[in-house]
Amino acid sequence: MVKHLLSISGLRAGYGGKPVLQGVDLTVNDGEILALIGRNGVGKSTLIKAIIGLLPPSDGSIRFRGDEIGGMAPHARARLGLGYVPQGRDVFPRMSVEENLRVGESIRGGAPDYDQVYRYFPILHERRSQPAGTLSGGQQQQLAIGRVLVGRPAILLLDEPSEGIQPSIVQDIARIGVDLNQKTGLTIVLVEQNIDMIRAMAQRCFVMDKGRVIAELTPDLLEDRDIVRRYLAV
Ligand SMILES: Nc1ncnc2c1ncn2[C@@H]1O[C@H](COP(=O)(O)OP(=O)(O)O)[C@@H](O)[C@H]1O
Ligand SMILES: [Mg+2]
Repeated sequence: MVKHLLSISGLRAGYGGKPVLQGVDLTVNDGEILALIGRNGVGKSTLIKAIIGLLPPSDGSIRFRGDEIGGMAPHARARLGLGYVPQGRDVFPRMSVEENLRVGESIRGGAPDYDQVYRYFPILHERRSQPAGTLSGGQQQQLAIGRVLVGRPAILLLDEPSEGIQPSIVQDIARIGVDLNQKTGLTIVLVEQNIDMIRAMAQRCFVMDKGRVIAELTPDLLEDRDIVRRYLAV
C-alpha cells in the first residue's frame, strides 16, 4: 500500500483579506518526487508557505503522517521533518557557508549530517569559511538546499530552485535530488517552471491554477509543447 506522507484537503489561505488558496487538494506519497507547475501568481509559493507554517490556513486540513499540522508553528513542523528551500534562496549573505549550515541544524534539532551535505556539494566544503554572499547564485542555491539537508528532513519542499541559475548547476541539483530520493527515500515536492528539471526528477506532476490543483500530468506529457503552453503560458 502506498503511504501518504502529506495529505492536503480543502486548504484555503491568503494575505490579509485577499484569498489565494481556494481549496487545495493534494496528496504526496512517501518516497516520491512530485512536481507542481502553474503560471506565475497562481499560488504555488503560497501553498508551500502554508504547508511549512509561514501562513495560517483559514480552512482545510494539512496532515503529515496522518496527524493534523495546520495549527503548528513552523519550527515544530521543521522538527517533524518538513524541510523548506524558499524561492530566491534567502541565505544569510554576511554569515559564512558553515554558519548558514548551522542555522539549518538548529532549526531541525537532532543529529546533523554535515558529511552528506559536503559530499553532495563539495564546493560548500571548499568555501565553508567564506561569506555566503560571495557565492554565485547556483552555489547559494546549493547552500540553501544543504542548509535543509543537514537536518535530515523527511520531505524537501523546493520552491523554484532553478530560477536564475546556470544549467550545469540545475542538472547537478536534479541529479542529487534523484540520488537522495533513491538512496535515502527522501520525499521531494518540486515547484518548477523548468520542464527539463521536472522531467529529470519527478514521477508525478500536478498543475495549479487560481489557487487550486486542477490537473495531474505524467512528466512525459510535458514533452508536448501545447500542453506546456496551456498550463504554463510559455
Ligand atoms: N506577501 C504577500 N502579500 C500579499 N500578497 C501576496 C504575497 N505573496 C504573494 N502574494 C500574492 O498571492 C498570489 C499568489 O502568489 P504566489 O503564491 O507567490 O504565486 P506563485 O508562486 O504561483 O507564482 C499572487 O497574486 C501574489 O501577488
Ligand atoms: Mg512562487
